[in-house]
Amino acid sequence: MIDVHCHVLPGIDDGSKNVEMSIQMLRESKAQGVEWMCFTPHFYADMIDPQSFLLKRNQAAQLLLKKMKETETEHINDSIEGISFPGFVLGAEVHYYRGIGRSEDIGKLCIGNSRYLLLEPTFRSWTPAFLEDVRSLRDEMDLKVIIAHIERYLDQDKHLVRELLDEQGIYIQSNAEAFIDRKTRKKVMKLLSEGRIDLLGSDCHNMTYRPPNLLDGWEIIEDKLGTDELRRIERNSRELIAQTV
Ligand SMILES: [Fe+2]
Repeated sequence: MIDVHCHVLPGIDDGSKNVEMSIQMLRESKAQGVEWMCFTPHFYADMIDPQSFLLKRNQAAQLLLKKMKETETEHINDSIEGISFPGFVLGAEVHYYRGIGRSEDIGKLCIGNSRYLLLEPTFRSWTPAFLEDVRSLRDEMDLKVIIAHIERYLDQDKHLVRELLDEQGIYIQSNAEAFIDRKTRKKVMKLLSEGRIDLLGSDCHNMTYRPPNLLDGWEIIEDKLGTDELRRIERNSRELIAQTV
């Protein structure tokens, strides 16, 4: 499995608080069968500029990488086998703002060296301007926009949601939690079975109330829909990872 949305980087947003927590989240993900993770800390343009964000993100990644290496070495010395971590690539969860479609720096926040940009839509009422911006990111900025956790927006204006889902070249991501939670399961299962969900993520923030849970979601999907849609998700995720290098 590939987790395209998570908050594992330590001390950079409301996700992992420190490297120890990050290591636990990585271990848990690996134990569930996650091979790759996209680290996507929140980016809010009204709080930080992209350059400063990237600096902070790289510092957090360096800190984590150091701890990962130490942990692996400790276990090699202890002769405990099987300790390894998923591979990771750096990205961001970019919160939407009006005019984002014309922001020159926005490409810097893509996942790795790819053109994939994880976009967190506004929680306020959607307007046609939001869709215009998304199209502009695709058409003017040449980005592959991933709409984060679509399940949170299904109560938005139905026409706009439908338009977004029908749009070509826009990728739709859903959280595993939406499939686990019976309140949202039916809706996301329908979207997935219609081929409208392209990518899955855990959106994990910690080890308690928002833990790594991709496997739980995966198993529920397999149980309800079989493996066809999961294979499609897997292909899409591999394509994304392949483009990050
Ligand atoms: Fe998130």
